[in-house]
Amino acid sequence: MDALIDIRDVKLSYETEGGRLPVLAGVDLRVPEGGFVAVVGPSGCGKSTLTRLIAGLLAPDAGEVWLHGQQVTGPKSSVGMAFQNPVLLEWRSVLRNVTLPLELVAPRMPKREKEERARHLLTLVGLEGFEDKRPSELSGGMRQRASLCRSIVHKPEVLILDEPFGALDAFTREDLWQTMQKVKAEEPFTGVMITHDLRESIFLADQVIVLSGRPAFTQYTMQVPWQGERDLDLLYTPEGADMLGELRHQIQIAQGRAPQEAAQ
Ligand SMILES: Nc1ncnc2c1ncn2[C@@H]1O[C@H](COP(=O)(O)OP(=O)(O)O)[C@@H](O)[C@H]1O
Ligand SMILES: [Mg+2]
Repeated sequence: MDALIDIRDVKLSYETEGGRLPVLAGVDLRVPEGGFVAVVGPSGCGKSTLTRLIAGLLAPDAGEVWLHGQQVTGPKSSVGMAFQNPVLLEWRSVLRNVTLPLELVAPRMPKREKEERARHLLTLVGLEGFEDKRPSELSGGMRQRASLCRSIVHKPEVLILDEPFGALDAFTREDLWQTMQKVKAEEPFTGVMITHDLRESIFLADQVIVLSGRPAFTQYTMQVPWQGERDLDLLYTPEGADMLGELRHQIQIAQGRAPQEAAQ
């Protein structure tokens, strides 16, 4: 098994007041070490649910979730997470928000070392000089940068990003994409990113998975042929336009707005 994240035919339903709600009906996802996979799919199809399975916060009804050759059976500190609305603690400085995961997973690491690591990351994402500010003194984009630092400060094996840039305006978002690339080049991680932005998916990921409508299965997989750090201009090349066209088509199928072809 050479995938670091290996999700096999996972099924999951929630118990609700109205009965069982089937959410995942057979999701497969494989991410090699150092790989970065984007997951797109209709709203409410089960994307966030999938991230909770990878993090071990939920157990599947059927199928298996493996991380680094070990079956996931409970919450994992080797998984870092970042969300659309960064949950930063207002009573802590930016620096001390970023050191928080180290306080939890590496309590014996000297304080100076923790802070050095946090400062290094904050500089990498362009937040040098903001270490002593409170989260409320930062813009939305800056909070998201700080949140990104916090999610990788303890070098998690796996980074999960659930619509991390969804609340940002288009230009700020593109800045963050470039920051993300820089971070990935300097601090390699294995990642899964949920997004509803198709351009973001092909710009950042090396594989894009389209989930069907709920209950979701892996409907379509696209390999992104671009390597390493990318230029935004790539999105406007014929190759970029073709990939976006195909993904848009797949989303329409997932939403039930375009007929499913006989064979993929
Ligand atoms: N804890 C829960 N209990 C019951 N239903 C849930 C729970 N969490 C999510 N759901 C439902 O499961 C479906 C999938 O949710 P979610 O994974 O958040 O979708 P997505 O992230 O793709 O928008 C939605 O219909 C949502 O209302
Ligand atoms: Mg979600």
